Amino acid sequence: EANERESLYLVNEFANEYFQKVMLKTDQGQAIGLSYFKERGFTNETIKTFNLGYSLNEWHAFTDAALKKGYQLEFLNKTGLTIVKEEKKFDRFKGRVMFPIHSMSGRILGFGGRILKTDKKAAKYLNSPESEVYHKSKILYGLFHAKQSIAKEDNCYLVEGYTDVIQFHQTGIKNVVASSGTALTPEQIRLVNRLTKNITVLFDGDAAGIRASIRGIDLILEQGMNVKVCTFPEGEDPDSFAKQNTLEELASYLDNNAKDFIQFKASLLVKEANNDPIKKAETIREIVNSISKIPDQIKKEIYIQECSRIMDISEDVLFSTLAQINKKEN
Ligand code: CTP
Ligand code: MN
Ligand code: MN
Ligand code: MN
Ligand code: MN
Repeated sequence: EANERESLYLVNEFANEYFQKVMLKTDQGQAIGLSYFKERGFTNETIKTFNLGYSLNEWHAFTDAALKKGYQLEFLNKTGLTIVKEEKKFDRFKGRVMFPIHSMSGRILGFGGRILKTDKKAAKYLNSPESEVYHKSKILYGLFHAKQSIAKEDNCYLVEGYTDVIQFHQTGIKNVVASSGTALTPEQIRLVNRLTKNITVLFDGDAAGIRASIRGIDLILEQGMNVKVCTFPEGEDPDSFAKQNTLEELASYLDNNAKDFIQFKASLLVKEANNDPIKKAETIREIVNSISKIPDQIKKEIYIQECSRIMDISEDVLFSTLAQINKKEN
């Protein structure tokens, strides 16, 4: 209920201050946490803006500090910041750099914590568990910092990760939010839908990123929104790409490479199998399937025309395919 939620926010907000202070004011925090972010190219200003922090590499340093301040173990446990096991207490984010996750209004919902050296034993990112205030499927990382620019630019860039959002901001593009690695959900898209009707999906330049972009397209179209997709060179993600480029270069890359969903799906076909008629038929069917999700009849027709032109197939066939899909779904 409301009281419990408030207690969880207060614990998270204490933790948020604590992790920042530990990073900036302790030897371990500076040597490990701060230098990690500096090596990634983040400035002091960026670190402050996103409240980045560090959790000491000790078993219960945070938990001890919070209990000493009077925060109750029940709420430390419910936020997931403290793990209670056989009467013993452990810090969940031990030895990780910390990315607090803000609500639309700037409250702290939870955290992502990144391990410093990627090894195969531990997950690269650990996130807060589901709680009264943290619902993974309803959160977009960066929305608090992006909401004004999204409305102003009338477009939202959707990326996969925390560092993609942060690096874009630092480069000068602020209308950006991250799904944080989860499969995009209708609730997440609805959060954007209140601010703009235009989403540009910028997923990582790997097979997983491309698959996730394809899945996202239909969900966005279903809400009557416009979707473009811009891919990055193999092995790059928005963070690594932005880091190597100036704002002008990044902005022109995005302008020149953002394709509407039909061109995006068509271009995947060209990459896969140039002259294979079966692949081409499958691609056309997939495009029409996406078009079938669009609620607006006029837009639907315009996209059918575009598909006809790009794929070099008659509109009649496309309309009858559309009718078949609709029939199957009703
Ligand atoms: N993620 C996660 N758990 C993991 C891996 C990823 O929750 N074990 C989420 C994180 O929110 C991450 C996003 O998925 O930011 C994208 O994953 P990935 O591309 O692997 O990470 P990057 O954001 O590129 O992180 P980095 O550059 O720090 O490696
Ligand atoms: Mn709830
Ligand atoms: Mn990836
Ligand atoms: Mn990535
Ligand atoms: Mn990355």
